[in-house]
Amino acid sequence: MAEDVPTDPAGKRRPPQAFLRDATVTDPDLREQFDREWPDCWAETADLLEWDEPYETVLEDDDAPFYRWFVGGRLNAAENCVDRHVDAGRKNQVALRWEGKRGERRSYTYHDLHREGQAVAAALRDLGVEEDDVVTIYLPTVPELPITMLACARIGALHNVVFAGFSPDALVDRMEGTNSSVLVTCDGYFREGTAIGQKRKADAARTSLSESIPTVVVDRLGASHETQLGENQYDYGTLVERFTGREVPPVSRAATDPLFQIHTSGTTGKPERMTHATGGYLAGTTWTTRSVFDLSPGDTYWCTADIGWITGHSYVVYGPLSRGATVVLAEGTLRYADRNRTWNLIERNGVEVFYTTPGLIRTFRKWGTEYPEAHDLSSIRLLGTVGEPIGPDTWDWYYEHVGDEECPIVDTWWQTETGSVLLSTLPGVDEMKPGAVGPPLPGIEAAVVDEHGRELPPGEPGYLTITRPWPSMLVPHDDDRYWLLAEYWEEFSDRRADTWRYFTGDRAVVDEDGYVTVIGRDDDVVTLGNRRLGTAELEAAITAVDGVTEAAAVAGGTDDTELYVFATAERDQPEDDELRAAIRDVVAERVGEFARPAAVVFTPELPETHTGKTMYRVLEGIVDEEPLEESTLLRNPAIVGELSTVWERSD
Ligand code: WT7
Repeated sequence: MAEDVPTDPAGKRRPPQAFLRDATVTDPDLREQFDREWPDCWAETADLLEWDEPYETVLEDDDAPFYRWFVGGRLNAAENCVDRHVDAGRKNQVALRWEGKRGERRSYTYHDLHREGQAVAAALRDLGVEEDDVVTIYLPTVPELPITMLACARIGALHNVVFAGFSPDALVDRMEGTNSSVLVTCDGYFREGTAIGQKRKADAARTSLSESIPTVVVDRLGASHETQLGENQYDYGTLVERFTGREVPPVSRAATDPLFQIHTSGTTGKPERMTHATGGYLAGTTWTTRSVFDLSPGDTYWCTADIGWITGHSYVVYGPLSRGATVVLAEGTLRYADRNRTWNLIERNGVEVFYTTPGLIRTFRKWGTEYPEAHDLSSIRLLGTVGEPIGPDTWDWYYEHVGDEECPIVDTWWQTETGSVLLSTLPGVDEMKPGAVGPPLPGIEAAVVDEHGRELPPGEPGYLTITRPWPSMLVPHDDDRYWLLAEYWEEFSDRRADTWRYFTGDRAVVDEDGYVTVIGRDDDVVTLGNRRLGTAELEAAITAVDGVTEAAAVAGGTDDTELYVFATAERDQPEDDELRAAIRDVVAERVGEFARPAAVVFTPELPETHTGKTMYRVLEGIVDEEPLEESTLLRNPAIVGELSTVWERSD
C-alpha cells in the first residue's frame, strides 16, 4: 500500500494508484487548455447542465466587476437537480439518505424529490409566493430542507436559508434583510440528545415582524410535541398531501437571475447578505463536484456541513444533486454524542466521498484512532476538507486513519462569496502537499499581493486576490452594488485601467509550484508589537507538540507585545507545566524568541463559529478581559464563560 503513495522529501504525495484507476479528471493539461481558451473554456462547465435555451455569450464584462455569465441562456436549477435524473431513467435511485438523531432512517429517490418538490412548489404558490419572491427556510438537517429549497428554485423564488441554531432576533434580521414573504420551519429537532423547540423560536420572531407572515411547519418531533398551529400557519404534511399530484413545470430562469440569498457566517465581522445567480452558480458547483469531488451519478457522498451555510448549499444540495449522486444527511452534531456515529454512518451507507472540516478531524484525532479503526471504511475513495487551514499533522492523521493512505485529500479553499471551490488540487492530476490548499483550479487565477497590489514572489506572504472572474461569483442584488464594490473590489483593482481584482480577505503565500498556503483571515492576523504572524502558522507550530490537538494564539499585555496561547490536549495527555514548556519552546524555536508565549492556557475547546472556524475575537476579548457577547455566532457559546474563569485562575 505504502509504495502506491511515495512521499518525497518536501512532503508531496502523488495521487494514490487506487484512486487514479477510476478518476474522472486525469488530464494534466486541463489548466493550460482552460487558459488557452479563456473565457470560452467555461462552456465546459455549462455543458454539464440542461438548458432550456442556450446562452449567447459566455462572459459579459461591460459592467465589471459585476460580470454576467452565460448571458441569454435559460435554465431551471430544480430541473437540473431533479427532473433530468428522473428523465434519464434514474428515478428510483436514492437521492437523499437521512439519519435522525434517534436512529430513524428515511430515503428519498429522485422520483420522491420530484413528487414532493412539486407539491411543495404548488403549496408555496398557493400561499402567494411568486417568481423572485424570497422564502426564508429555518430548518435543521431534515429532508424537507433541500426539498423546500428545490421547490423554491422550481418556481423561480429565492430561498434564504437561516441556520436553525440561530436566535429569533437573528431570524428577524435575515427575514427583514431579504424582504421574505413566507417562512418554512419545523416544530423542533434533536441536537445532542435534547429536543429543541424550533417553532417557539420562529413564533417569537414572527411577533417582531410587521406583518403576519404565512408559515409552513414541518412535523419533525411527532405526536409527543404536538404542533400548535396559529393564525396563518400550515402543517407541511397536510399541504403536501393536498397538493400531491399537482404538476408544477420548472420556471425557466435567465442564467443571470438570482437563485438564492445567504448570509456569511460572520467570523470576523457582521454577517452579510450574498446573492448567487442561477446559471453561473450551478455551472460552478456542478463542475467542481465532478472535477474536485469526482462525483458521478449514483455515487454515495457525505458532506458534514450544515445546509444553512454555503458549503451545504453548494456541496450538499446543488452540486451533488445536479450530478445525480446519493447524498447522506445526518441530523444533530457528530461531536458530543456517540464517538462511533460518523464511522457508523459511513459504513452503513457505503460513503465513497467524505467532506468535512479540520475542526471535526481534530476532534476525531483527539478521541483516538480506535474509533475509525473499529469500522470498515473501505468504501471511501476521496476525502475533502474546507473552512480553515488544516495543519500537516491533522492532514496526515486524516490521510492515514480515515483514508488508509489510499484516498486523495482535496483541501478546498473557497468562500460564501465565491459560491464554489476556487483553489484545490485536482485529485486525479495533482500532487498533494499537506498544509497547502493547492493551485487555483483550471480557469481560476489568483495572486498574492502586497498592500499596493503588487504581486509578490513565491515565499512572501501577502493578500490573496482572485484576478479573473469565475462563473459562480457573487452578484449584486437590490441596492448592494456600492457595498460589494467597497468590500471586495476596490482595494486591489485599478479602475482606470479596468483591471479588477477580487480581494478575498485572506492572507496567503504561494510556493514555486504555484501552490497556495492560506495563512488565515487578514483580520485574524496576530500583530505582536509590529510583527504580523499568521494564525495558521502559529497553530501549526503549536499542534506539532505531541499531545496537543488544537491551538490558537492572540496578542495581549502592554501594547500587545505578549503572546497568549490557548490549547487543547489529547485525551490522555496531562495538562501540566511540562506541556506548557514544550509549547513555549516550539513557538520560540519555529516563530522566534520574541514570540515566546507569556502564558499557555488549556481549555477543553476553542470558541468556534458554526462553520468550524476559531473565533479569534472571542479569545482577544478574554485576554483583554472584556469578553465578547456574540453567542449566536458561536457553535459552543458556553466556552466563553468557561474560558474567562480559566483565564482569571491562570493569572
Ligand atoms: C473563509 C470563507 C466556503 C466554505 C467554508 C465557509 C477560510 C475556507 C479554507 C481552506 C484555509 C479556508 C478562508 C475563507 N477557508 N476554506 N481550505 N483552507 N482556509 O465559508 O464562511 O464564507 O469562509 O474560510 O479564510 O476566506 P465562509
